[in-house]
Amino acid sequence: MNPPNPIQTERLTLCKPMIEDARAVFETWAQDPEVTRTMTWPPHENIDVTRSVLRRMIDAWEQNTRYTYMILEQSSNQAVGMIEIRIEGHKAEIGYVLARVHWDKGYMTEAAQALVDWAFQQPEIYRVYATTSVDNIGSQRVMEKIGMTREGIMHRYIIHPNVSDVPVDSYLYAIVK
Ligand SMILES: CC(C)(COP(=O)(O)OP(=O)(O)OC[C@H]1O[C@@H](n2cnc3c(N)ncnc32)[C@H](O)[C@@H]1OP(=O)(O)O)[C@@H](O)C(=O)NCCC(=O)NCCS
Repeated sequence: MNPPNPIQTERLTLCKPMIEDARAVFETWAQDPEVTRTMTWPPHENIDVTRSVLRRMIDAWEQNTRYTYMILEQSSNQAVGMIEIRIEGHKAEIGYVLARVHWDKGYMTEAAQALVDWAFQQPEIYRVYATTSVDNIGSQRVMEKIGMTREGIMHRYIIHPNVSDVPVDSYLYAIVK
């Protein structure tokens, strides 16, 4: 699998991260408790945490296990978030995070659509899916706007450790070709 790098959309550039992106990632969203509230990881305590997370993402590109892209806003050339695609045979899963100041501009829909489009150009990929907790309306809207169908509910599926250690329900969304 050889995902394109970079990927250009109307307003965004998606590209493989570099260790040098650590400051932007840390300052723009990774330490933000509001952004990480619906993530499975705690806010980064310092930039060294961000560096080691980026190192794992870069290594994963080399190992062809998952491809995490930085999302850059073309108008400012600033990092605004990340989106990831994990390929598992004929399936691919996406996940994403965006800096709070950029929410509700349609950015994640634009980025996710680009990855779905690429995935379905690959003959071996038939299904792209994503999960989100039942209370994450913004993420559900992204999935719906890129044409995914809500396939079901997975009870007690995910823990958001920044909110509670009690697992909550998630929706499973997917689009197939
Ligand atoms: C989820 C997230 C990626 C969405 O990114 P985004 O760029 O703001 O998404 P978009 O602008 O493309 O679309 C968001 C949609 O949700 C809607 N929305 C957001 N919050 C909402 C709410 N509380 N109630 C109703 N609609 C809401 C927006 O109005 C928009 O829909 P519209 O285009 O129909 O008006 C972003 O909010 C984020 O990073 N959140 C924190 C991390 C996270 O939750 N990641 C996903 C984990 S599954």
